[in-house]
Amino acid sequence: MRIGDLHLEQPVILAPMEDVTDRSFRKLCKRFGADIVYTEFVSSEAIRRGVDKSLKKMLFDQDERPAVIQIFGNSEEAMAEAAVVAESYKPDYIDINFGCPAKKVAGKGAGAALLREPEKMARIAASVVRAVSIPVTVKTRIGWDRDSINILDILPMLEDAGIQAIAVHGRTRSEMYRGTADWDWIGRVKEHAHIPVIANGDIWSAEDALAMFRHTGADAVMIGRGSIGNPFLFTQTKELLRQGAVKTVPDFRDRIAVAIEHLRLSVTFKGEKYGTLEMRRHYSTYLKGLPRVSRVRDKLVRENDWHNVIDILKAYEADCEHYLREGKLREYAEYLNDHSKKLVLK
Ligand SMILES: Cc1cc2nc3c(=O)[nH]c(=O)nc-3n(C[C@H](O)[C@H](O)[C@H](O)COP(=O)(O)O)c2cc1C
Repeated sequence: MRIGDLHLEQPVILAPMEDVTDRSFRKLCKRFGADIVYTEFVSSEAIRRGVDKSLKKMLFDQDERPAVIQIFGNSEEAMAEAAVVAESYKPDYIDINFGCPAKKVAGKGAGAALLREPEKMARIAASVVRAVSIPVTVKTRIGWDRDSINILDILPMLEDAGIQAIAVHGRTRSEMYRGTADWDWIGRVKEHAHIPVIANGDIWSAEDALAMFRHTGADAVMIGRGSIGNPFLFTQTKELLRQGAVKTVPDFRDRIAVAIEHLRLSVTFKGEKYGTLEMRRHYSTYLKGLPRVSRVRDKLVRENDWHNVIDILKAYEADCEHYLREGKLREYAEYLNDHSKKLVLK
């Protein structure tokens, strides 16, 4: 896949996710093999007003590269202005969010709402392309609802606007995150596109990523929810794509070690208070399927001191070692997917 100077073979990309893909999570995913990482989306109006919290979302470290800043908004002027500010943070490229279905975004005419105003969408894209000298890409959905799927009409308009790649989440706005992503439509976009297509939606395993490449013929795949609490998915996907088999099978020790690493990074970047608080949403996915986890989870989400969080996680790891010796990990296998089964039985 080529975007500007960037040239990557079958890249596996971390999707932008609000409240998830902050610096700490991006760094982890990068270390586990993500080829490109995206920031959380950043409001063009907030960038324009210089809101500190929003500006901070655009900070990244050199070891995250290639790194992308995603912006959203509903006006050509605000988006062009925000893009200039975003460019000063030196991302590898800028992405425009035309896919967010949430009321707070689409309800204000931004994100997925622009699927109902293709001309305006194209004008916004063109104004951002004109404003900056780095590549500009778009992430969107296939249409507003099943009766108005218009991604194939939108595609040439975005290409004419100078967009250099398109990421397609195979759902409509109305579907939000329900049902399963429609990979057929992503395949149709690839058939018609003259720019790289990044396929997104419902990649939960390395096998799904391979299937997505094969089904759609896309140039890249993008993983969102499947990576939360599971950055190992990037390593596994790269192994399957490059070596033909998944070799990395994380066990509870690996999962707990990464949860602790994530917490440390979170505290480094957000400070003790927010770094600890914001990690609370991640523990359940890191520990998913492990034995007697609910009690531990309850403790973790009440604890304010990150040193104590680490102690709780380490104590739980010792419990898991004990369950393993007693052969008790086996009884929890039914909760787990295939890879995780190997995780507890190995
Ligand atoms: C918690 C959460 C936050 C998200 N935030 C963003 C965002 O800021 N920008 C964006 O383009 N998409 C956002 N998305 C959508 C994802 O990037 C992705 O398109 C979607 O989750 C489908 O991919 P998946 O099935 O791999 O999760 C978000 C999704 C989730 C679950």
